[in-house]
Amino acid sequence: MFQWQQYELGVCYYPEQWEESLWREDLRRMKDAGIGTVRVAEFCWVLFEPAEGEFHFDLFDRFLSLCQEEGMKVILGTPTATPPAWLTEAYPEVLNALPDKTLLRHGARRHYNYNSPVYQRFCSRIVEEMAKHFASHPAVIGWQIDNELNCETDEFHSEADDLAFREFLKKHYTTLEDLNRAWGTVVWSGVYTSWDQIFTPRPVLNAGHNPHYLLDYYRFISDSCISFAVMQAEILRKYLKKGDFITTNGLFGNVDNHALTEKALDVYTYDSYPDFALGLDRSPKTSTDLNDRKWSRNLIETRSVCPHFGIMEQQSGAGGWANRMEMPAPRPGQLTLWAMQSVAHGADFISFFRWRTAPYGTEIYWHGILDYDNRDNRKLREVKAFGNLLQKLTPVCGAEHVAAFALLKDYDNEWDAQADVWHKRISSGSEKEIFAASQLHHTPYDIVYLNDDTALSALSRYPVVFYPHPMIMTESRASLLTEYVKNGGTLVVGCRAGLKDANGKAVMMPQPGLLQPLTGTDVQDFTFVSPAEENDPAYPIFHDILTPMEGTAVLARYQTSYYAGEACLTEKKTGKGKTIHLGSAFSRDTVAKLFEHLVILEPFRNVVDAPKDVELLLREKGGKQYLFALNYLAQNQTLHLQKSVYSVFEEKELCGDVTLPPYGIAVYAL
Ligand code: GAL
Repeated sequence: MFQWQQYELGVCYYPEQWEESLWREDLRRMKDAGIGTVRVAEFCWVLFEPAEGEFHFDLFDRFLSLCQEEGMKVILGTPTATPPAWLTEAYPEVLNALPDKTLLRHGARRHYNYNSPVYQRFCSRIVEEMAKHFASHPAVIGWQIDNELNCETDEFHSEADDLAFREFLKKHYTTLEDLNRAWGTVVWSGVYTSWDQIFTPRPVLNAGHNPHYLLDYYRFISDSCISFAVMQAEILRKYLKKGDFITTNGLFGNVDNHALTEKALDVYTYDSYPDFALGLDRSPKTSTDLNDRKWSRNLIETRSVCPHFGIMEQQSGAGGWANRMEMPAPRPGQLTLWAMQSVAHGADFISFFRWRTAPYGTEIYWHGILDYDNRDNRKLREVKAFGNLLQKLTPVCGAEHVAAFALLKDYDNEWDAQADVWHKRISSGSEKEIFAASQLHHTPYDIVYLNDDTALSALSRYPVVFYPHPMIMTESRASLLTEYVKNGGTLVVGCRAGLKDANGKAVMMPQPGLLQPLTGTDVQDFTFVSPAEENDPAYPIFHDILTPMEGTAVLARYQTSYYAGEACLTEKKTGKGKTIHLGSAFSRDTVAKLFEHLVILEPFRNVVDAPKDVELLLREKGGKQYLFALNYLAQNQTLHLQKSVYSVFEEKELCGDVTLPPYGIAVYAL
């Protein structure tokens, strides 16, 4: 893996959209603001190859020379997210399609499919030509594959996808009999008698598609996306200078980002646009749904893919497109807060989107650092000030995040929940509430994705792991969890755990299935909970009524409904550890009580007493610890420092009450 050795600032720049006479001045103004890297070219296919097989690189040759002269480093994007019109008109088989097979036409972006051999051939060639031409250039430091794989749509329905889907299934199942059995197609006469009868999901009536088929379809998309990235990475690697990296940007649906990173990349980058969570909402108090810091959830996910990641696109201005999306500008201080949120969560490279707002096109209102008038403004001043703050943080670069617990996830359950609304409601509700409890009680966590090869060491770093609703459970994951618990870990699972096999089919076993030896519970009855029965209509969503088996302690019992008095929370010891089984979805109050019970609540309480609207994160390097405090509110927040700590930004020792201004941040060396 590649890791930045010091914090670096970057910016997304589109030389092709501006007069060349502006380039040098732009680069100099960037440098003056502390920006040392530009990300360019990711949408420039038609400039590089204006007609089939004709390559022109002169515009970027001139730009790269200027970058070299000005000492600016460059990340080049491969332009495969935007096939030119000459290509899609001559070879429409490269296009993606809607479920009804209507082709998605030229004019926007990401309208191609991963599986067309024709598209793969054209992509391989443009990537190879670019790599041959630019990779040795001294200004180039890295490559971005495509742009935001699976963004805008994460479903593919072209003819090439149908063919590739059948091949994917043949490889997995070998025979149609096995496939029919795995999907349970005997229901509703769904049996396939020829591979040619299988397509990507086409329109059906509202009963919807068979969920086991959908689960394999999502796996297929992920596989296609990863193969497409690997194809490009293999070409780039032939030409890459020593020390240069390959990355891609984004965190989108229907792709196993962990496998993508392992197979194709040196480092992962994320595009952070916190305004998406806020929309037009700028009310001073948003702590109920925590939209003001919802992006921290995405950053925790990103950290699970790559602990020391980069931000390829960090929001610097108001978001907006001409045809949809209207967002307010970041308030003074908010640009800095959002960029520091990325750093606190593990980003060592922050590249802002974008240098200057485009005066034309779909993104005419997607505002960058500079506005149309090109004058210095408050956003540029904030970027510069942020760069100065990063200089003070130099010793923190590359530090490790210190988590109180881990949230376990896996792609099987992620995608099963897309095909199964019962699963989705429970798991997305619980994840949101675990995040809320973690934030409001300053108990930070990491996410760990499990697969069948996950090593015990990935879990044993954490005293407690929450695996809220692993409805799909496999033998290998159950035995990994058993080892973890036997060795002293605490596993917390919620309702519906262990219900399904790897195809998403319910297992004919007492619940929680393969986890029963660990939980020591037997689920003999279960029900969705009517919102009318509960004070809080959002929770607890579902109830598994738990019958404790021998050796299992009951920690809490249901108080309402026909199962009042039955167990809803249990604890069972195995080896040196234990398993907690909650019969429902998780609410923030339940999670906070579990934190307390498991002695992981508020690990920083001896250092600081912080209000709920402040996020606290701890990073550790070389035996030194650094506590980040981020104020998401547009008003002052008071922290009480319980002991003397060194304020990295103010460069002095502090103790007692300190004030964080609106959107203010602090870093304390402990
Ligand atoms: C990202 C994309 C950029 C730009 C930005 C703002 O998703 O990678 O190219 O479109 O959003 O809309």
